[in-house]
Amino acid sequence: MLECYCDVPDIDFPFTAEDIFGDYELDLFHNNVPVPKEITIAGKVVKWNNWMAGKYAGKDNKEAWEVYQKENIFNGEAVITDTKMKREVWDWMNATFQPNVFQEIWNDGMHSHPPVTILCFSDSTGWHKEGPIDIPNEDTIPKEQGVEYIKRMRAPAVINFRLLGDIDGSVLQFAKPSEKMLQNEKELIDKFFTVRPEESFHTKIVEHNTMNIGATQHWLANETWHNDLTQITEHKGMHNAYIVNLAQWHRVLTNGSPRVAFRVHANTTFTFKQIEQMVEAGKFFK
Ligand SMILES: [Fe+2]
Repeated sequence: MLECYCDVPDIDFPFTAEDIFGDYELDLFHNNVPVPKEITIAGKVVKWNNWMAGKYAGKDNKEAWEVYQKENIFNGEAVITDTKMKREVWDWMNATFQPNVFQEIWNDGMHSHPPVTILCFSDSTGWHKEGPIDIPNEDTIPKEQGVEYIKRMRAPAVINFRLLGDIDGSVLQFAKPSEKMLQNEKELIDKFFTVRPEESFHTKIVEHNTMNIGATQHWLANETWHNDLTQITEHKGMHNAYIVNLAQWHRVLTNGSPRVAFRVHANTTFTFKQIEQMVEAGKFFK
């Protein structure tokens, strides 16, 4: 077991790109329209977090924003907002998975969403990881700073279903970090949690030797650490559904056609290894 991914063919998935996306979204994915500055974009049945605009716009980083606009690439993440679609997705989840394997309904204080994200990559990504992290001195952190949000968003795994994209032409690569890189990651996490101004963890970003961390993931600012990553394996294409270990360093390489996936977030009470064992024992799906 390489503990990177686990293919789960033959799982019923009744939703199509046509059910979920409108014409504007398809134009966005294919870079036919300018990527808006707005961080939140309303889609047909989902709400997009235009995180790349969030990362570059409005900061001192004018140059990065100009490059981003010129390249006009949309990489975004969405949650389902349409009431009918929410219900259909929740019903399908309950009919498909064992009840303890996926997260409860997400509630952001204003709205509820099934624990699903829709991810669009119009271009390749850098190396990053999203899985659970050990939170140092958790009991000393005030509740309002958002530790619960971090725990919820850092699922051990997602069950990944293809909505759009070249079935053969994209690759998800996994890599193992060196000891030095592991140590830096540990220091980065400590820095994130222990150096605490008033700032909420929802928006906070901390950098340590070109490694960055935010609430939902950590990533590399440039190629400094690339020689410290040794590739373990890769998942080629999107031929069937598969479960991804988000706690491994990974990146997506596309061949230029947008890759859009529907991701069910696994319960945070399990490790990826346990999930893999449940799949093998026939205890993951109904
Ligand atoms: Fe990822």
